[in-house]
This record gives sequence, C-alpha cells and structure tokens, in this order.
Amino acid sequence: MSKQLIVTSALPYANGPLHFGHLLEHVQTDIWVRTNRLLRNECIYICASDAHGTPIMMKAESEKMDPEELVKKFTIEHERTLKEFHVNHDNYYTTHSDENKKYSEIIFLRSQENNLIKIKTIEQFYDESKGMFLSDRYVQGTCPSCGAKHQYGDNCEECGTKYEATDLVNPKSIFSGETPSIKKSEHLFFDLSKQEKKLLEWINKTSLQAGVKNKLKEWFNEGLKPWDISRDEPYFGFSIPGFPNKYFYVWLDAPIGYIAILDNFLSKNSPSISAQELWNQSEIYHFIGKDIMNFHTLFWPALLDGSSFKKPSNVFVHGFMTLNGKKMSKSKGNFLLIDDYLNLLEPDYMRYFIASKLSDGIDDLDLDLLDFQKKVNTDLVGKFVNIASRSQGFLKDFDNVLSAELDEDLIDEFLNKKDEIFNHYIDRNYSKALKEIMTLADKANQYIDFNKPWILKKESGNKEKIHKITSTAINLFKILNLYLEPVVPVTSEKIKKYLKCDETIDNVSSYMKNHEIDSFSPLILRIEDVEIEKLMEISKNG
Ligand code: 2FM
Ligand code: ZN
Repeated sequence: MSKQLIVTSALPYANGPLHFGHLLEHVQTDIWVRTNRLLRNECIYICASDAHGTPIMMKAESEKMDPEELVKKFTIEHERTLKEFHVNHDNYYTTHSDENKKYSEIIFLRSQENNLIKIKTIEQFYDESKGMFLSDRYVQGTCPSCGAKHQYGDNCEECGTKYEATDLVNPKSIFSGETPSIKKSEHLFFDLSKQEKKLLEWINKTSLQAGVKNKLKEWFNEGLKPWDISRDEPYFGFSIPGFPNKYFYVWLDAPIGYIAILDNFLSKNSPSISAQELWNQSEIYHFIGKDIMNFHTLFWPALLDGSSFKKPSNVFVHGFMTLNGKKMSKSKGNFLLIDDYLNLLEPDYMRYFIASKLSDGIDDLDLDLLDFQKKVNTDLVGKFVNIASRSQGFLKDFDNVLSAELDEDLIDEFLNKKDEIFNHYIDRNYSKALKEIMTLADKANQYIDFNKPWILKKESGNKEKIHKITSTAINLFKILNLYLEPVVPVTSEKIKKYLKCDETIDNVSSYMKNHEIDSFSPLILRIEDVEIEKLMEISKNG
C-alpha cells in the first residue's frame, strides 16, 4: 500500500551561503525521497529559509538592508544552489510568512489553553547604548574558571566549562564594547516537564537512532527544564499575541514553519485539504544535524502534542561534515562553499560521494578531496560506466540493436538484489546500498573479462556469442542504472536516453531484447587532478 509522507530537511538560516553541512543533509533527504517515490510512496518534500532571530537582524543591519530583503536574497540563492544539486523540494518557502504567523499563534494559544505556558522574570545583560538585551553569544569576557580571555557567555572554548553569562569576569557587549548592565525582564516559558509522560510515550514507540536515544536519556536524567520561548524587542520575528513588545524566539516558529510550508504548498496544489488534516494523516520525517536534536526530539514533539498536531514518525539525525580530516573553518583556512564546488564539477559526483559515506548513524563524515576523486573515478567511471563503454564498440557491428539471446540467469541474479538494495536506501544505509551495487558492477565486468569478446572477434568471429555477451552487459548496466537513480539522478536520466528506455521499478524486470540503443557518448568523465588541485586551493584560501 502506498503511504503518504511529509519529509523535511532542517531550514537553513537566511544569513549566509550554504556550506557542505547543508548539502550533506539535503542530499541525504533527497535520496530518501527519491527512493520512496521510486517505490510509489507519496512524498511531499518541503523546506524553507529560517528567517527570524537576532543574527539575521544584526546581519541585515550591517548590510544596511531590511531583514525582509536579506531573507529574500538568501532564500532565492539557497533554493537555486540546492536545485543545481538536483535536490527536489516540492516547496522552498520562508518562515517569515503569513502562514507561519498563523500557525505559531495557533500553537502558542493552544499551549496556553493547555496550561503549558508560564511567565517568569529573568535577569539578563543589557547593552544600554544599543538598547537591547544581549544573548550569550553577544557578550564576551574572561572565563570564571580558567581565566581565558574573550570567551562567550555560555561556555569557555578553552576549558569547556559551562556557565551563565552573568558569571563572566569583566563582561563586554560585542556591539558597543561597553560593560553591559543587568536588567530584569518577563519571559514566557514552555513548561516541558508537564509533557514528560507524553514525550516518554513518543520516545518508546518511535524507532529513534541509538545515539539519539542515549542523548535523550541524558536530558531526562538532568530533568526537563522550562524552555524560554520569548524575546524582547528589538527582535526580527512574530509578536506574541497578548504580550506587547514580546516576540516568539526563532526556535519556536522555525519548526512550526514545517506546517506553514505545507499549508503554502497545499494552497497552491491541493486546496481541498487543510495543512493540519494532511499533517495528522501523514507519516512525518525530519532530517536534521546532531546539533539541533533537542529542538526536534524534545521541544517540537512536546509543542505538537500540546496543540493537537501529530508528532513526528521519526527524526533522522546525521553527523557533521569535516573537510580533509579537520573541522571546516573559514578562519583556519579549511573551508569550501558548495557554490565553489559547483563552478568546477558535476553535482552528481558529490551526491555519489556523500551517499557512499552515509550510514544510519550520527558519526561525522569526512570530505577528503583525494578520496572523493578516487571514489568517483573508481566506482562510477571505472566500474559502472565501464560496463557500457566496453560493450558499445562491439554493438556497432549489430547497428546498436541488442540480441534476442541473453544470459538471463545472470540478469535475474542482478534483479534479485533489488529489494535488498532499496531496503538499504530506506534504512538510510546508503553506503551499504552502493557497496552492493558496486559488487554487482564488478560482477558485470568479470563477466565481460571471462567471455573476452575482443578475443572472440579476432579469433573465432563467433558473432552470435559476441552479440549475446555485450547485450547481456547492457542489460546489467540498465538495472544498475535504476539502482543508482536516487543517488545520481541526472546521470541516470542521461543513461536512460542513451539506452532509449524509460526504466522504472515496474518494468525493470523486462529484458531488453532486439532493442536499439544510442551510439555511445562519454556518459561520465573522470575527475582530473587539476580539478581537485583547484578545489584544494580554494579550500585553503577560505
Ligand atoms: O540550525 C539551524 O540551522 C536552524 N535554522 C534549523 C531550523 S530547523 C527547523 F526547526 F526549522
Ligand atoms: Zn575556561
């Protein structure tokens, strides 16, 4: 039975270009969505730019732009970049929308009705000359524990101690450089502990990854603390109904954005069903990085539950992406923007490499540029496309028409791997799926090696046999092409054109006999050393 899925990637902040961490996540999600679609599940894949919060407000100020303008600029840019990587969102929207304001208010008011909101007075640093409260990242001072200078207000990067901003010695505002005052303010809190039972039920019935369950256990042991959901002005966000001069914290309206993007999508495509109805009838899957696990596995399900929305069916967490074995950092000369990559190389190469490294775990993944070159050249060019390149020359003698005689047992052996390979994709074990596919590609090449059509041509001139072997190889190539489609969709499309066949999961099992294919043109080119050298250079210059 086909299922209805809503699938999301985390919403990138609209204050800078996308980096490889974003790409890893969108490629991971896109492969999963494409696999589900191949398997005939209905998927709506949505994303947006995350528009609100102080960093975006400050960035707009420094660029002398309105925050709305800044957000628009990056939304367009992000959507374009991801499209170039063949990431196929059904809707790429923004959290600064009327729909999101509506759902943020609904969810807040329902939480309030359910007694989940409380008010507390807190003390915070305040920059008098800037006229604003300072969150932890906007105060620097000396670590109260080890004495390291220039540390932020949440934890010390030198000794790792966690503290309150007000514990810093000699604190300064990073905006004015002045010593901030301490000011009181009323904040609204979501009372997470009241949702403890509901959260535990959700955690127990959801097949979360082991790493996620462990982290959740830690948080439950520490005790669920009230979550501060309000910010004082000036703030770029939605004002809170009934609380003048207070705004929803960006992390309240960001996940609610998932529902708002769906609403916007439905209003354009399927206005007869409301977003809440479809949300509550669907399976909901969020792909996220490990740094935002608490928002998605604690606050978000608690908020949804408190306002009569269905909780996620699962939250799929991935690790970070490192570059050449080290953390990506612009200032340390180890950094690559995905637009820099796009200027040099095909998106499908990077999609293949990312997939070859992905499992269902939350470990980090390294983009070693030499490893990347080797992987693509060995697997995609040397193993996969090689099957076609080695066969095509012989088929010219048969006007590029495949034989009616094929080694059907071997073809069936390849077909029998279909479920195993697609199950690996569904389990997000992409590296395992690709390993299986490459083992089959090796087998296809061994079949050609064993039968040696070039010797047959020279010595016996056994035309039927040559025709059968090379036509069988092309049939194997066609099957592997379908198996690779979720990962390298554009290459796969090109190959289908070359094979003159519109292959889908439903007709993959039919043999191609007496079938004309195109004459060969290079389907994938090798990655040359100079391209990798250029990327290395760019990554060093940040
Ligand atoms: O961490 C981030 O980049 C956030 N902008 C992700 C938001 S995801 C969702 F909750 F909106
Ligand atoms: Zn310290």
